[in-house]
Amino acid sequence: MKSNRLMNQIGARLGLFTATTAAILWAGCGQQSKPVTGGPSASGGAPASTPGATKAGYTVGFAQVGAESSWRTAETDSIKGEAEQRGVTLKFSDAQGKQENQIKAVRGFIAQGVDAIILAPVVETGWEPVLKEAKQAGIPVVLVDRGLKVADESLYATLIASDFVAEGRMAAEWLVKKTGGKASIIELQGTPGAAPAIDRKKGFEEGLKEHVDMKIIASQSGDFRRSVGKEVAEALLKVHGTKVTAVYAHNDDMALGAIQAIEEAGRKPGVDVIVVSIDGVKGAFEAMVKGTLNCSVECSPLLGPLAFDAVEKALAGVELPKKTIVDDQVYDTTTAKDVIDSRKY
Ligand code: AHR
Repeated sequence: MKSNRLMNQIGARLGLFTATTAAILWAGCGQQSKPVTGGPSASGGAPASTPGATKAGYTVGFAQVGAESSWRTAETDSIKGEAEQRGVTLKFSDAQGKQENQIKAVRGFIAQGVDAIILAPVVETGWEPVLKEAKQAGIPVVLVDRGLKVADESLYATLIASDFVAEGRMAAEWLVKKTGGKASIIELQGTPGAAPAIDRKKGFEEGLKEHVDMKIIASQSGDFRRSVGKEVAEALLKVHGTKVTAVYAHNDDMALGAIQAIEEAGRKPGVDVIVVSIDGVKGAFEAMVKGTLNCSVECSPLLGPLAFDAVEKALAGVELPKKTIVDDQVYDTTTAKDVIDSRKY
């Protein structure tokens, strides 16, 4: 029986149950009641460590946002790479930035009877119906990178993500220090309705609150894309001219687009216009070494290992914390050159 075999494999891999105990538990659960959260905690919370794993023999559907940024591509690679290393069969779907595509993908995964689903939700709201369907089918859903809002938190097993509010706050604090507390800022927001766009805006505004001369003079979405970030920055630079002294972009790709726009407007990015963003991708480090980008707050996309640890724990019935926060650091032109060669994305 597929479920017995799966539970045996997971139990053995986690080293949490004997295979027999796992099989008994699983057989007792049945497909309809595969635990989403709150099953027997067999480990006392010990982390699942799976180096050198061979065939895991289970199937996971990964509903990805799209490929809007280099960060996103790095996250996709991390999840795909980890699945391969663990011998997990991965079904991958790229929603091209559209929630309706992602909902269809999740429904498809349920219909195909995957063992678990990894979801990076495009936006925060509108997930209840499809998550209820997954729960009814006994399929745990692990959220990666972006959170969502549902009244019933048992609809997902856990969220593994950075603290986006803290990232926005760190960007603001860095900018206050750099500018001596006086700047006219253009903000390039991420995708409307997406958790990182909402939270990075909130955190940034919080970080500026006490500083009356730090003014956001314009704020528009660049959809987390380099090309859109460039277009929006171009338009805003035309309207506000030399009044603009800083750009805050919700991700590096938009900042890199804005840097091009600043140069094309005849100004020096990094000098005439201070640029701060979030992600810490390779292109951002290159720009910091060059001096065109001043600061990037890291947001790790290397979530594959944590995501599959969570999937395996959820399948084994281990109760997971509702959120695991990934630590981020701030890099700027003074520190970038020391670490650029060791960056993994
Ligand atoms: O959800 C994380 C954000 O989404 C990243 O900062 C951005 O680059 C991506 O597109």
